Amino acid sequence: MDQDEKKRRAAAAALEHLGRGGIVGVGTGSTVNFFIDALAGLGRRIEGAVSSSEASTRRLAAHGIRVLDLNEAGELDVYVDGADEATRALHLVKGGGGALTREKIVAAASRRFVCIVDEQKIVERLGRFPLPVEVIPMARSYVARELAARGGDPVWREGCITDNGNHILDVRGLSIADPVAFESELNQLAGVVTVGLFARRPADVLLVGTGAGVVTLERAAGS
Ligand code: A5P
Repeated sequence: MDQDEKKRRAAAAALEHLGRGGIVGVGTGSTVNFFIDALAGLGRRIEGAVSSSEASTRRLAAHGIRVLDLNEAGELDVYVDGADEATRALHLVKGGGGALTREKIVAAASRRFVCIVDEQKIVERLGRFPLPVEVIPMARSYVARELAARGGDPVWREGCITDNGNHILDVRGLSIADPVAFESELNQLAGVVTVGLFARRPADVLLVGTGAGVVTLERAAGS
């Protein structure tokens, strides 16, 4: 079975995690695109969506799904998004599509974060996928030096301007033993807007599309 079919399975399984009539937080990426397409089939069962990127907004709107501003929507019941890497502790690396800042905001504003991935995304330790870090443009070189001092090999994603007008550094060569501590440490660097580690606010449910079906992993209460 190809990777897209596994993504589609995980995306379809996320529909079961939606309430009735609420506003859904929607992430970004190829897996989420399957989710948006599946959402369209629900018709009026959802009231609308809060989107994490211009790309997802366009796709939602093309399906006729109402897109609300997060400031109007208040706290969301559920946020559905993909990931570039995930561990069994439900810690994630995200931002391969460059939407990490808005994704982190919508995830933070949601009671439950349902992450949808195919099985190729599961890792024992985060860091194989280059860690995206969104930076204020003038801080790019400074932050790159700080990341190199921490053992990473940061590469500027040239030509990429985020939806927020910022730059992205993709940090290679990391092996992240303590994702919560590392996320906190990088958050403190001047000029860092968002680190693509989602460990301080991990997923609550991880739906993993496999050749044999969808495996559900849930975060233990309080972990
Ligand atoms: C977007 O910025 C990312 O965080 C995506 O959620 C992540 O890159 C997963 O994308 P795919 O579903 O396309 O693999």
